[in-house]
Amino acid sequence: MQVWRCDCAREVHLGSGAGGLLLQRSLPECADELLRRFGGQVQTIYLDPPFNTGERFDMKMRVGEADWRSSRARLTLPAYDDRWPSETAYLDMMRGALTLAHGLLREDGTIFLHIDARMHAHLRLMMDEIFGAEHFLNEIIWAYQTGGRALKHFSRKHDIILFYAKSRKYFFNIRAVPVPRAENRSNHMRRCVDADGRTYRTIRSGGREYVYYDDEPAYPGDVWDDVSHLQQKDPQRTGYDTQKPFKLLERIVLCASRPGDLVCDLFCGSGTTLDAAARNGRRFLGVDRSLTAQTVSRKRLLGCKMELEAPPSDVKARVFASMAVGIGFYTVHLDGYEIEPERGNFEGLDAVDQWSAGFLRGDAFHPYANAARSKQRPRLPDALEIPVLSGTPCLETVDVFGRRAYHCFAQQGR
Ligand SMILES: C[S@@+](CC[C@H](N)C(=O)[O-])C[C@H]1O[C@@H](n2cnc3c(N)ncnc32)[C@H](O)[C@@H]1O
Repeated sequence: MQVWRCDCAREVHLGSGAGGLLLQRSLPECADELLRRFGGQVQTIYLDPPFNTGERFDMKMRVGEADWRSSRARLTLPAYDDRWPSETAYLDMMRGALTLAHGLLREDGTIFLHIDARMHAHLRLMMDEIFGAEHFLNEIIWAYQTGGRALKHFSRKHDIILFYAKSRKYFFNIRAVPVPRAENRSNHMRRCVDADGRTYRTIRSGGREYVYYDDEPAYPGDVWDDVSHLQQKDPQRTGYDTQKPFKLLERIVLCASRPGDLVCDLFCGSGTTLDAAARNGRRFLGVDRSLTAQTVSRKRLLGCKMELEAPPSDVKARVFASMAVGIGFYTVHLDGYEIEPERGNFEGLDAVDQWSAGFLRGDAFHPYANAARSKQRPRLPDALEIPVLSGTPCLETVDVFGRRAYHCFAQQGR
């Protein structure tokens, strides 16, 4: 069966969840487009922008089926560059992003800006200016144990998350994020048992008596020391430097939005916020300029209802594919992927990280079956079955460099 290269502006994934959109775009250039499409619609925004570290960050990829401890099975790709010509250039980009975020939020919306001590003072003032000092809610300290030990100053063991509302009528539900009551934190209180046998702690302060039942939930304060940074061997790790823990984003998503609400991340990186939103029944809007971020997020969200928009990839690799027709289904075979020699020496399907089979309808690819390589499943299936539906049968490959290519099959009877 004949197969030829085709172009796609969009991917439309069926799947579970409330639905989402993944955009490969750069800020602030995409601000007008985003405001036109989503202005005043977003319930909560989490931003984890570059911190102006002066460093470059990478993505560590696992490649192929070989023993992944061997050097042949690893690839390091650029993720993003956090070097800026000047502090002013960095702050100009941030001003654009924060102004856009303000325009995207609903009137009862909120924003969480994740930063560290480097740019904190500048960004706190910028947030006051754009969101209004009267809409400041918290300066959350995320304290962790990872990282090195300093000898010339105290070791830096926290990030800062600035929490602001768009207006006084904001939505916030702390009851959605209970935490276990810490035994040691109530040691200084008197322990009592009531007539029903329930234990409680009590303390007098400022002429009032405070009572805390042991079986009632506690809620986080503004110091979060119960969420650890991702350890080297953490199964959540995607390989994308600066990835944040799922638990951190889940807490934010749960307290600041309701099921069905739109949750946005304008620097979505490996897609942690989008994953937390999707798994909790929220819609998501994820933006990142990096192709690597787009690839990791796509893989992480496979199986979710989502759309993906990205500029076309420059890929000259040769794709070998075939299709068998069954009763009511097609079996699409990915027979080979011959990458440009200058990209390296890859065997078989080793250069393919993900692939999907589905249908081309207009300018959009609709995948109905997906495969992705993972540490748990290093072997990529070479055949996918899809139902016979309208559109031109099509397959997409996403290679280890994040480049997408689409190939169409001639339909039966044409
Ligand atoms: C700290 S990382 C985000 C990590 C993310 N929270 C996670 O859990 O994986 C910052 C991200 O901002 C993206 N970025 C940097 N400058 C950008 C810009 N001007 N427009 C859009 N994305 C940008 C980078 O590509 C990077 O993925």
